[in-house]
Amino acid sequence: MKLSDTVALVTGGASGLGAASVRALLERGGYAAILDRPDSAGNELAKDLGPRAIFAPADVTDAEQVARAVRQTVAAFGGLHVLVNCAGVGSAIKITGKQGPMPLELFEMVIKINLIGTFNVARLAATEMLRNTPNPDGERGVLINTASLAAFDGQMGQVAYSASKAGIVGMTLPIARDLGRDGIRCVTIAPGTFDTPLLAMMPGEQRRMLAAEVPFPSRLGRPSEFAALVCHIAENAMLNGETIRLDGALRLPPR
Ligand SMILES: NC(=O)c1ccc[n+]([C@@H]2O[C@H](COP(=O)([O-])OP(=O)(O)OC[C@H]3O[C@@H](n4cnc5c(N)ncnc54)[C@H](O)[C@@H]3O)[C@@H](O)[C@H]2O)c1
Repeated sequence: MKLSDTVALVTGGASGLGAASVRALLERGGYAAILDRPDSAGNELAKDLGPRAIFAPADVTDAEQVARAVRQTVAAFGGLHVLVNCAGVGSAIKITGKQGPMPLELFEMVIKINLIGTFNVARLAATEMLRNTPNPDGERGVLINTASLAAFDGQMGQVAYSASKAGIVGMTLPIARDLGRDGIRCVTIAPGTFDTPLLAMMPGEQRRMLAAEVPFPSRLGRPSEFAALVCHIAENAMLNGETIRLDGALRLPPR
């Protein structure tokens, strides 16, 4: 799928990997709707980026709000071809310990935002994509999700986060199979450690240690490198039903 004049909806698009994806899609001549929380920086970012970007405030877990954001995208740009699911939250708490069992509500909250939120936006975006006239290669659209290395090498304290991200990996192939006949693909990226506001909260020493653990290149990933893969997935029709690690050969240790 060519990205020029292509319309994308990017969840978590106000920050980090999502914001970098928005910029990269616009640089290639596309349009982008930034779906993020109403209190995020999405509005300011859309204003900075100009008329090819809009802010579509929504919580990914809310069916009505996301349906409205999809309608807003189509009203502004005339269709929807690419979904980039980046909205997500982390969590760092063991299953149990001195403080007692992990609160069930915390586990549910992480699953709700990362896994159910990703599914909610995917199902509504895919439904909209069904309306597209296929391009000469038969493509109607592509769904790009964001998992994490934690889906495979979950560390201590990552039980909720790892479960949510493994769920995203697990639904990638069945979604691709469900939508194959309609010319809609589904691909997931499993990033290693990227330099975003999510990691900026860590002390400098911890960030340096994380960077040093990456075999090559021994640094944190740049959000632009994630965004470049988003664009490539959209452009390469043979990528489908797969999760791609983007991690400099990093394998996470137990802690
Ligand atoms: N940065 C990394 O190293 C890294 C590594 C692996 C996976 N990831 C994943 O990549 C994705 C993006 O992470 P990031 O580093 O850019 O983080 P980030 O915190 O910079 O951005 C996440 C965005 O998601 C939005 N968001 C959170 N909950 C939401 C909700 N319920 N509804 C709508 N928007 C919501 C936030 O407002 C924020 O703008 C996340 O899913 C994260 O788990 C990041």
